[in-house]
Amino acid sequence: MSDTQVQEKVTGHKRFERNVTLLGAAALVTVAIGGIVEIAPLFWIDNTIEPVEGMRPYTPLEQAGRDIYVREGCYACHSQMIRPFRDEVERYGHYSLAAESMYDHPFQWGSKRTGPDLARVGGRYSDGWHVQHLIDPQSVVPESVMPTYGFLADAPLEFEHIADNLVALSYVGVPYTQTDIEQARQDVIGQADPDTAPGDLVERYPGAQVRDFDGDPDRITEMDALVAYLQVLGTMVDVNSAAAQEVLAEESGR
Ligand code: HEC
Repeated sequence: MSDTQVQEKVTGHKRFERNVTLLGAAALVTVAIGGIVEIAPLFWIDNTIEPVEGMRPYTPLEQAGRDIYVREGCYACHSQMIRPFRDEVERYGHYSLAAESMYDHPFQWGSKRTGPDLARVGGRYSDGWHVQHLIDPQSVVPESVMPTYGFLADAPLEFEHIADNLVALSYVGVPYTQTDIEQARQDVIGQADPDTAPGDLVERYPGAQVRDFDGDPDRITEMDALVAYLQVLGTMVDVNSAAAQEVLAEESGR
């Protein structure tokens, strides 16, 4: 090294490279700018999810079924998000849209798949198949390792406080109306009990399926709620409709 080099004034880039504290501080500032650019806009927009036609909050009965799904830990073996890969789409149907889980609290995307993805299981089997499968999975799929849930058919659905669930969900952004909340208990009965008129349930929850789900029309059981939930999964949005196609085009253009 020559003397002139040693005495050279340390300026510009070299100053940062020779002073670790300065380099650290400058790196922090640089990364922070990137972070702010990514995060700050989120404070000014109401929603990061594109709305899609057909999405509606769960009916109180479906929501009760969803709570049973979570309680029983079905998510430990089942995911609810079809990834946009050819093998998944061929097996499970159209890949999941962000909007399809916008009213899910907590979401059930998951990554553990001991059993198949359930995001689009709605309408794939009859109610009777689901009931039989939940009571004794091996009776319909002999090689199944799924546990039995027959007790759900004997457990009366507890929905005295269902309106409170809807209120809690409305706090986190699910657009239940005052009428939905006031009529929540009546809606459970109206949807699952074939002897009771459903009132305006279907107007408030378009596409809601009204029937006895568990094969026992005399009472409303946890099985009714769970099957009602399974049968609505992935059926709200018509993914082939024009409106959905528009959003898809936008999503893929991002
Ligand atoms: C120990 C893991 C496990 C748990 C927990 C589990 N399942 Fe399954 N499930 C499976 C397996 C494996 C299959 C595939 C074989 C079959 O159809 O039984 C399956 C299949 C299914 C199917 C049929 C899906 C299809 O497309 O054919 C449904 C519906 C289902 N499970 C619902 C549930 C529900 C609801 C719960 C919670 C009450 C649950 N499962 C809990 C393992 C599990």
